[in-house]
Amino acid sequence: MTGMPVSGLPKAGTVLGHLDDLPDPGARASTWNDGAVILVRRGQTVTAFLNTCPHAQRPLNLPGGKVMLHEGQFIVCPVHGASFAATDGVCVGGPAAGYGLTGVEVEVVGGEVRVV
Ligand code: FES
Repeated sequence: MTGMPVSGLPKAGTVLGHLDDLPDPGARASTWNDGAVILVRRGQTVTAFLNTCPHAQRPLNLPGGKVMLHEGQFIVCPVHGASFAATDGVCVGGPAAGYGLTGVEVEVVGGEVRVV
């Protein structure tokens, strides 16, 4: 993978990954930019968020890129266990209460997950 780490949102049209590479339901760090974004799949629906937990600014993925998705609905930070709704990134439990993940608007086109 290539690309400099960025703290901002990826540009429109950027391909973040492929639907077929995502567990269903499940979540993974993007192939784009060394996992700077996480992709959450539930059926044909994909939501995406910057890969930074708002509690202590740590990545949400485990080694290898897997992201924990509890009951197919809640992204769980592996560091201190904060959980976030897969739909909108709002914190629903744990030490990041009152905060949320930063969403990235995406669409699936021809099996590619692209930034809108
Ligand atoms: S860094 Fe995610 S819960 Fe602390």
